[in-house]
Amino acid sequence: MARVALVTGGTRGIGGAISRALKATGYNVAASYAGNDAAAEKFKADTGIPVYKWDVASFEACAGGIKQVEADLGPIEVLVNNAGITKDGAFHKMTLEQWSAVINTNLGSLFNMTRPVIEGMRARKFGRIINISSINGQKGQFGQVNYSAAKAGEIGFTKALALENAKSGITVNAICPGYINTEMVQAVPKDVIEKSILPQIPATRLGEPEEIARAVVFLAADDAGFITGSTLSVNGGQYLA
Ligand SMILES: NC(=O)c1ccc[n+]([C@@H]2O[C@H](COP(=O)([O-])OP(=O)(O)OC[C@H]3O[C@@H](n4cnc5c(N)ncnc54)[C@H](OP(=O)(O)O)[C@@H]3O)[C@@H](O)[C@H]2O)c1
Repeated sequence: MARVALVTGGTRGIGGAISRALKATGYNVAASYAGNDAAAEKFKADTGIPVYKWDVASFEACAGGIKQVEADLGPIEVLVNNAGITKDGAFHKMTLEQWSAVINTNLGSLFNMTRPVIEGMRARKFGRIINISSINGQKGQFGQVNYSAAKAGEIGFTKALALENAKSGITVNAICPGYINTEMVQAVPKDVIEKSILPQIPATRLGEPEEIARAVVFLAADDAGFITGSTLSVNGGQYLA
């Protein structure tokens, strides 16, 4: 039987590529999203992957959404915590709303999504949890105190949860993408990308969402069972952690 995989924010950007790659590898995939119904419906029509709308920043919404996915597809065996947002600004001007939204969506979601599935994974003695962190959680980034804190928190979450669950056949790993060619990065002005970002990347280009998806497929595999608590950088050589 195909293993069931749930990808949060799995309808576009990096998450969309992850959902497609997992499906192509043979997983039974569900993709969640926040509110962009048009993108989600197009994704569903293109891929045949079922989509589910809920806010990963809400514990109750996650518990309800996961219950629905499990009723439709079966117990979740691979969880990809990918959903994330940015709300950039210098810290001395940052509002509590900017701080809370980014912490709750990027980091709070790891509790909200993982807590409802971990007991089942432990009982079944198998699980793969893959958290999409960021290069900016490893090195810090000007204007991103909120985002860098959340993404660094994801790495700590990954390591501690890996220790607690290694005996139960569950691996927990983080992937830290560098600059990837998605709407999140396309929102950055073109001359900033060309003059300020590309010169920092030894590979001299942005990464593609499919290059992150490839790393997820690798970590999700049954025979990746000895890789846990790791942080995999996929950044074109931009930061060597
Ligand atoms: N792009 C990069 O260069 C880069 C680099 C490093 C790390 N990352 C990380 O990689 C992940 C994906 O980034 P991306 O660039 O692919 O982002 P994106 O294109 O903006 O897509 C974000 C996805 O997350 C969903 N989402 C956002 N807030 C949510 C919420 N509260 N509840 C449920 N779903 C929510 C969105 O749903 P809707 O479609 O409904 O809005 C969308 O499907 C993020 O965690 C990001 O921090 C990205």
